[in-house]
Amino acid sequence: MIRFAYVQGEFLPEAQATVPVLDRGLMLGDGIFETVRLKDGSIEFFDDHYARFCRSAELVRMRQPWSGPELESICAKICHLSHLTDASVRITLTRGAYKGTLSDTGDPPRLVVTCSDVERTDPKLYTEGVAISIASFPKVHAIDPSIKATQYLPAVLARLEADSQGCYESLFLDPKGRVLELSSASFFGVKSGQILTPPLRLGLLPGITRAAVMRLAKQDKIPSKETVLRVPDLNGLDEAFLTSAVRGVMPIVRIAGVPVGAGRPGPVTSRILKAFRQETGRK
Ligand SMILES: Cc1ncc(COP(=O)(O)O)c(C=O)c1O
Repeated sequence: MIRFAYVQGEFLPEAQATVPVLDRGLMLGDGIFETVRLKDGSIEFFDDHYARFCRSAELVRMRQPWSGPELESICAKICHLSHLTDASVRITLTRGAYKGTLSDTGDPPRLVVTCSDVERTDPKLYTEGVAISIASFPKVHAIDPSIKATQYLPAVLARLEADSQGCYESLFLDPKGRVLELSSASFFGVKSGQILTPPLRLGLLPGITRAAVMRLAKQDKIPSKETVLRVPDLNGLDEAFLTSAVRGVMPIVRIAGVPVGAGRPGPVTSRILKAFRQETGRK
């Protein structure tokens, strides 16, 4: 099946869709992005993703002329052309052409939208849960961590470590040893029936799925709170799970080699997973 992409006004088969070699995204990592999940032709939590996209653009002083409906219809069209009804869609915006200077040369921003199939995600990840590692280096923020910027090298390195340890994801701590988030997902623990997650003020991405889970917990009357967690707290958790737009809610059953609780997905995680699936219509 041929996948389609959108680049600067054109819808093209992915293999023919290109960006100039002197793009600032490539040369400088000068870009922002969103990854969204499209299900049956519509994007989950699109307004929230769009608001975060606009905010990222504003904070990095990048022009973002696309309206929400325009962006949404581009995402829907590439999925339609690609014959995908359940897809991960990546929206990337760069500051345009690199002209040998870090300064903004007034070049128009460049929008690239791509999609991929998520139907092949192994269902066992949800029924059996995943093991995660803890990154060997802390996450330090040079810029506002709420900006969803394309500079993901620390996350990539953390994920490579996880891969080498046979783990699915890697958990970042800050320089004070406080839990932040995973390389590309938000982190949640469960202790004595209460859902715990690190507060945004520590410097993490305000995950759209994280916010949805907090809302669902409230609706379902599951106690939840934002709290600082450190490695010894992780060892005392009964359950843990991760969230992201593409993966939804996924149980974590082992952290740095230590089983979480009974070492299998627990009842609170299962309740949240069920509520999230009901809300989004995912299988
Ligand atoms: C660092 C980081 N934290 C959290 C998330 C989850 O955010 P969302 O639920 O908006 O996908 C992501 C997703 O890419 C991420 O990269």
